[in-house]
Amino acid sequence: MLIVYRKEKVTGLINQAILSKKSIGLVPTMGSLHKGHLSLIEKANKNNDTVWVSIFINPTQFNSPKDFKKYPKNLEKDIDLIESISDKINVFIPNEKEMYDGMPKLKIYDFKSLDIELEGKYRKNHFNGVATIVSKLLNLFKPNNIYFGEKDYQQTLIIRELVRIEKINVNIIICPTVREKDGLALSSRNNLLSDSEREKSSIIFVSLNYLKKNFNSLKLESIKKSIIKSIQKNKNFKVEYLEIADSTTLQIQKKINSKKSYRAFICVNINDVRLIDNLLLN
Ligand code: PAF
Repeated sequence: MLIVYRKEKVTGLINQAILSKKSIGLVPTMGSLHKGHLSLIEKANKNNDTVWVSIFINPTQFNSPKDFKKYPKNLEKDIDLIESISDKINVFIPNEKEMYDGMPKLKIYDFKSLDIELEGKYRKNHFNGVATIVSKLLNLFKPNNIYFGEKDYQQTLIIRELVRIEKINVNIIICPTVREKDGLALSSRNNLLSDSEREKSSIIFVSLNYLKKNFNSLKLESIKKSIIKSIQKNKNFKVEYLEIADSTTLQIQKKINSKKSYRAFICVNINDVRLIDNLLLN
């Protein structure tokens, strides 16, 4: 398994792969890998001649220094997990200076309505930070295919828009959310929960399913209110948002017009650990 720390080395290897007409798959991550990431890496490994996983906790996408500092890190285990899929996968682990050619710097994009609501509303500049780093990675790796998880649904729409704005030729492959047995979406942040918080956090997926079952029959605002109330009955659980939005524009819906496709989006803050999830409603 090849572990690379320098961009120059990546460029050399990518040029060789392109010359020998090998397809390139890229899985960008911030490490602390779980089965959700592994499903992306497995898919990339099946469908590309050369696979790269990047591990980089990107400072520009964190709006809270505290959140950035406590983001889980598990490099040795990450490398073992990647190797258990294939020892032919390459891993890129840059430091901040290498990745940003000096101090991390944010690029500001115009994503129209896509970053106004949901995560965009509660994490100022988060998506500019995501786009800044993904744009750098796309330019470095020139992948044929890049892989993301549906759990970060808003992020996937932002990346599609980024690729359109920057006219980058790449297939964006979105893989389904991987869940624990009780429905909790896998996230590196789940490791930060206490046992009791972890157990109670299954209410997030239960709530999304309740919304899916009832969003057509009940008044949206009252059903949302009652879900929020029942989640917040759990100690230290605070619902940051619970919204139904148009699946394409991400505009928040107060009323449902059943011809369109909708998704429910939720963010619950549990003792300063932010968990997000979403579910297709129709
Ligand atoms: O989804 C993530 O883990 C991050 O936002 C990404 C895409 C790796 C960019 O830092």
